Parts: sequence; C-alpha cells; structure tokens
Amino acid sequence: MCGIVGYIGDKMAVPVLINGLKKLEYRGYDSSGVAIFNNSDLDVVKCKGRLSALEEKVIPKSLNGMVGIGHTRWATHGEPNDINSHPHISKSGNIAVVHNGIIENYMKLKEFLQEKGFKFISETDTEVVAHLVEYHYRGDLVKAVKDTIEELEGSYALGVICKFHPDEFVAARKDSPLIVGLGKGENFIASDIPAILEHTRDVYILEDKEIVHLKKDEVKIFNILGAEVKKDVFHVSWDVASAEKSGYEHFMMKEMCEEPKVIRDTINPRIKDGKIVLDDIKITPGDLENIDKIFIVACGTAYHAGVVGKYIIEKFAKIPVETDLASEFRYRNPLITDRNLVIIISQSGETIDTLFALRESKKRGARVLSIVNVVGSSIARESDDVLYTWAGPEIAVASTKAYNTQLTALYLVALDLACKQGSIDEETCTRIIDEMRELPSALEKVLADKADIQKFASEHYNAKSIFFIGRGLDYALSMEGSLKLKEISYIHSEAYAGGELKHGTIALIEKGTLVICPMTQDYLLEKMISNIKEVKARGAVVMAITQEKNKEVEKAADIVIKIPDVDSVLAPVTAITPMQLFAYYMAIEKGCDVDKPRNLAKSVTVE
Ligand code: F6R
Repeated sequence: MCGIVGYIGDKMAVPVLINGLKKLEYRGYDSSGVAIFNNSDLDVVKCKGRLSALEEKVIPKSLNGMVGIGHTRWATHGEPNDINSHPHISKSGNIAVVHNGIIENYMKLKEFLQEKGFKFISETDTEVVAHLVEYHYRGDLVKAVKDTIEELEGSYALGVICKFHPDEFVAARKDSPLIVGLGKGENFIASDIPAILEHTRDVYILEDKEIVHLKKDEVKIFNILGAEVKKDVFHVSWDVASAEKSGYEHFMMKEMCEEPKVIRDTINPRIKDGKIVLDDIKITPGDLENIDKIFIVACGTAYHAGVVGKYIIEKFAKIPVETDLASEFRYRNPLITDRNLVIIISQSGETIDTLFALRESKKRGARVLSIVNVVGSSIARESDDVLYTWAGPEIAVASTKAYNTQLTALYLVALDLACKQGSIDEETCTRIIDEMRELPSALEKVLADKADIQKFASEHYNAKSIFFIGRGLDYALSMEGSLKLKEISYIHSEAYAGGELKHGTIALIEKGTLVICPMTQDYLLEKMISNIKEVKARGAVVMAITQEKNKEVEKAADIVIKIPDVDSVLAPVTAITPMQLFAYYMAIEKGCDVDKPRNLAKSVTVE
C-alpha cells in the first residue's frame, strides 16, 4: 500500500527520498510525489505512474533542498492521476502533507473547511489534512499537527512540512505504520524499514497518536497530550542485502529459494533437547483448562495458513478451532469470550482488518497469540503472546516464504498446545519434531527439481481458467495455490474440495481444462484418484503433486510433480512450493510483473 519517506540532514533530499520510495515499491502504488524545501520555497512535484516518471519530472527542476517528504500512492479516494497524488498542499501553499491510510470523517471535515473558505482541488481524503493543519497553525507546527489529529477519525501515517519551518518537519501515526530512522546529523521517517536501511539501522517505532518532531540533530516524540515520550531504540538486525534481489531476477524467486533457510530459522531456536520450547508463549497447562475454543483469524495467504492450522491444532491439541477471515470476523459480532484463544496470523503485522480483529477479540476478553513476521509491528505489539516467523523481509507482493514459515509456526504451536494438554504421546511428538527438522532439506530438493514445472507452465500459460482441487490439508493448500496463480498471472482460478466439485463446479470442466491436484494425504489418496478420474473423463488435463512413494498417482494424472516423502501432516510445507513455482512460471510466460502485480499492495493498511 502507500509508502512514505521523509528526510532532514545534509544530503540532497530528492535522491534520498526517491531511493527510499524505490525500496517501498513492493508495497504497490500508482502515483508518487515529493515536497522539498528549495531555497526558501516549498516545491511539490508529483505525477501518476512509476517512480521513473517522477524522476523525469524532478530532474529538470534542480531541487537542491536537504529537507523533504515523499510518497507513493495506492489509490483509495479518487483515481490515480497527477492531482490526486501526494503531497497535498494547503490553501496558501505553505504546508505540504503525505498520508497513508483513510480519513473516515473527511467529508464532514471538508464541509467544515469549505465553510471557512478552503478550496479543494483533489478527490482525496488527504487534502483535508493539509488544510486542517493550516487552519490550526499559529506558528507552532507540532501543535498544529496535534490539533489536527485530534479531529481525525480513521487511520493515518502523516508527514507534514511547512514553509515557515525549513529546518524541521513533523510526522504522526494511528493504525498505519511509521518508523523514525536515526542517523548522525540526519533523521528519517518511513512507512517501512527497507526505505532507510542503507542510511541507518537504528529506529524508533511510533505508537498510535504519537507525534514526532524531527530536526537534523534532534528527534522528539510527543503523545497526544503533548507530553514528551522517551523510547527505546530498536536496532534492525537484518541487512540491506536481505531486502535486495542479490542476483535473482525477481524477489519472488529469491524468496522461494530462501524457504529452506527460513524454515530452519523458524524451527531450530524453538527445539531444545528434542522438545519444543516456545519461550515467547506464556500459556500454561492451567490456562489451557480455561480455553474451550480457538479462533484463527487472518487475511489472504495468512488465512490459508490458518486453514491448515485448524486441521493440525484439532488433530494434535484436540481443541475445536474456527478459522475466520479478519474482514468478516470483526463485523459479524463473533461469539468470543474469555474462554477463547485467538490466533492472529500476519506477515506484515500491519494488515488493518487483522489488527482490528485482534482488538475486537481483546475487547471481548480473549487471549491473543499472534504469528507475525515483522518484529515490532502493531499486531506483534498488541498481542498477549507473539511467535515470530523468521522469514526475513518479504518484498514480492505475492507471499511465499512467509506462508511456509506460518505453517511451520502453526505446527510448533499445535505441538506445544498438545504437550501442555497432554493430548499427544511423547513418541509421536518426538517423531513429528524429527520430521520437521527434515523439512528444509526436503524443500531444497523441491527447489532443485523445478524444470518440470517450468516446462509444464510453458505449455499451458494460455489457459483461461484453472482449478485446484484437494482433500483435507490439500484442500487448504489448493486455496493458496489458486490465490498465488491468480494474483500474479491474472488467470482465473478456483479452489475446491475434491469431493465438492461434482456438486456444481464440474460443469465448467471441459476438454483441455487444467486441474491441479495436491495429493499428499495418504488416507485420502484413493478418494482423490477417483476425483481425478471424474475430471479426466470430462477432458481435463491434470497435474498432481505428491510424495515420491505414491506411485499409483502416476497412472491417474497427466503429469506428476514429485516431492520428497515427508509425513502427510507436514506435507503442506513442501507441497506448496511447486504451486508457488507454477504460478511464478505461468506469470513469467505471460510477461507479467511478478513482483508487483496489478492492483495489489503488500501491506494492506486500509479496510
Ligand atoms: C497474497 C498476499 C496477501 C496477504 C494478506 C495478508 O500473496 O500476500 O493475501 O497474505 O494481505 O497480509 P499479512 O499477512 O501481512 O497480514
């Protein structure tokens, strides 16, 4: 979603801002802009399209200022065009604002400001913020921003500069991420860490309704009451290379190739003397006696991981689990009580629907355990217990390695709960733990054998519609395989439970329709073979994904992608990768921008 970068220091601000914004391109955007102090003026340059279009517009202007704010916009209010792009300026042109999020009461504020003589030129909600800061401004920019955010409803990360304050700028946030980068003689704001990583690894993570006042040698943070807040510096442990392509053509391929490593990183520190030790999860056997139901809540790919989580927590820990889409959960008045555990899953830790579902759950008394990738993110900070997935930065919009680590984390949680419940015997637990440790090397083999998938994609990339079918855990996997394909290759696709297809959707299967079948569940193999026969009888071409040992699948499917022989219960971690690779190669064959698919954003910080 939108990206923000702000800079104050001794360097030329324009290249710092544009390079920073380039590091946020993965979040998705359709226009961009900068506002810079240029001599004694405040210059704003912005336009629709990629950052290269902005660069072309900026260069002839010779903007030499050393203070500025920049933005990439993902349109919500008003189409992507030059006027709706950020920064937005106030009536007098003295104040410029960049904003991520949605101002929900902007219509009311707009009417108020129009009555006071402010004229609006864009269709955006953000423009009200620029005018409102000007309305409140009496010579103190921090106070003007504070008075402004007191009137805002909704979500925001804001960067504000003012012509009368050439040596400072102000930022604030609520429900939309914003960090402050701390340099030597220079300081930054950004909506995500990669934007500033080449300059500093020391950051402050802002909390809701905090206001930060930046000068080149000083950063002060205030709460909404105006009191100064002292914060710990957060040191980012990963380096620039983790957020670069490192020789790969696309981030998505790089991130799939990292799967063995990140699975290892997620498992290894949590296994001590052959036992699972989740230091960060404080749930005791006594606490579990009071938990009669678990909800898993998430969006998109993280939700699909949650569907796997339901199967495995019920299997091992014997506690009923309901899996919910965060955007639905929040508004359906869920029957949550203090006898429930809510597991929240999120790569970014900032997805607004998921964050609000977390808050709703806490309000109703539930304990919240989150499985999150981004350290220090809002979801991590607001949860009772956090289990980090050590996937490292995920830049490609389509989630790959984060999904595999979310599954891995869910296995750890399921086994941990099962041990605390006494619902698993030691021998089974030890066997599963041992097999989990084999997952990284199994994944290495899957990644080494990608040629067949690439060839199959080169023969089928013109497909108009593709079905994914599976049973049990393979149904959960089918949902994720289908999502991956449609989001990056734009091919229509649907996921169905193998046994459900004949209740309607089989009407769409005709000669040449492609059907992808993950088949990793031993006890469901025969049933799936029957389902393959049903679609093949109607002309479908079938690609199956199964463990090497399942020779009988070869007779049923047109092509079989073999994965190493891992236990059925753990197979989702290895079986998803061929589907991720399939989506990738289909998108490449079609000439799509795999890392930045159309209309999508990495971190969805609006409802
Ligand atoms: C798909 C994808 C999205 C995210 C979803 C939730 O590849 O990336 O479906 O999974 O927006 O995002 P997080 O996990 O950051 O909450």
